[in-house]
Amino acid sequence: MELSRRLQSLPPYHFAAYARKIAEKRASGVDVISLSMGDPDLPTPPEALDALTTAAHDPANQRYPEYAGMPELRQAYADWFGRRFGVSLDPAREVLPLIGSKEGLAHLPAVVMNEGDVALLPNPNYPVAATAVAMIGGVAHDLPLSEENGWLPDLNAIPEEALSRARTLWLNYPNNPTGATAPRAFFEEAVRFAREHGLLLIHDMAYAEVCFDGVRPASVLEIDGAKDVAVELHSLSKAYNMAGFRIGALVGNATVVEGLTRLKSNIDTGIFKPIQIAAIRALALPPEWVAERNAIYQRRRDRVVAACQRIGLRAATPAAGLYVWPRIPEGRTSNEFAYDLLDHAGIAVTPGTNFGSNGEGYVRISLTVADDRLDEAMARLERNIAARA
Ligand SMILES: Cc1ncc(COP(=O)(O)O)c(C=O)c1O
Repeated sequence: MELSRRLQSLPPYHFAAYARKIAEKRASGVDVISLSMGDPDLPTPPEALDALTTAAHDPANQRYPEYAGMPELRQAYADWFGRRFGVSLDPAREVLPLIGSKEGLAHLPAVVMNEGDVALLPNPNYPVAATAVAMIGGVAHDLPLSEENGWLPDLNAIPEEALSRARTLWLNYPNNPTGATAPRAFFEEAVRFAREHGLLLIHDMAYAEVCFDGVRPASVLEIDGAKDVAVELHSLSKAYNMAGFRIGALVGNATVVEGLTRLKSNIDTGIFKPIQIAAIRALALPPEWVAERNAIYQRRRDRVVAACQRIGLRAATPAAGLYVWPRIPEGRTSNEFAYDLLDHAGIAVTPGTNFGSNGEGYVRISLTVADDRLDEAMARLERNIAARA
């Protein structure tokens, strides 16, 4: 059986292939410490679990769910958005629950792009958008990010040839993999730019609620007029330790929300209601819950950054997100470095190039393991680097 040409050009998803390799290592007796995926290890709030289990017993919740999500969940998202960002959303027209924000990233190109249209995509970037653009016959134009530009793209440097065919501008702050946050002035510029060039600005805010040192990342929808040109993706995966539940939302421009609702209702049949009910409960948690959880990640972040400094790896201290993004020593690619760590030190980190060519020279270390395992991983990293020096 021959697969489609587009699929044939699609490599296996890094984390799926890597998970298989980690499983093989573990099966052969290696104690692998995985700092690879940003998969929260801390527990889902018990209130959400209780809501889920109670709701699961109600036969009404076992039937097909509403295509556009439960009205109560759309309302809960709108309420949360108002409290968190001071932005008012119409729950009927500007909020769409998703099967995780990844699902929204994957389907948005089909909603707003035609074959041959250009997507302006940061490099490095979470890889899902580039794949989704390729699958609909869109063309990716790289927006290079670097340490020097604070991991923010230079919108004025986009060549006219790409800009004239561009339909979407993708941003992600707090940023995966770099940990960068965007100042409000940059969002103002991006909204202005999207309006001027007829682009849909797609802001991935999966890490909105993982933030440190008192920083509270802003939504792009806080900018005046943003709803005319922008949508934003949110997720309960990292915000409320609910990655396995697969639940998030698209918010913002009503035409795009309607378009994605139409596409989804043709190809999926909503989200299991008890999961939506658990999400409603999580979204009602007080900010103190998020702050307490973030204190744990912040402590881990400080351990990893301090260890990187001790080892001689240059790493910024991220104000948000689940990762530290150190530069690796010269002489090896980030892929060679990461696979050597897996093969010889029993640590899984993500090669920077998994996020694009500008990730070369970096690896991504996830903060989703307990302190003692994190310390053990950093000790192994130190020994590995010393042995290779
Ligand atoms: C930048 C970014 N966006 C979106 C997602 C998808 O998250 P989910 O589908 O669990 O909401 C991830 C997951 O790691 C991510 O790193």
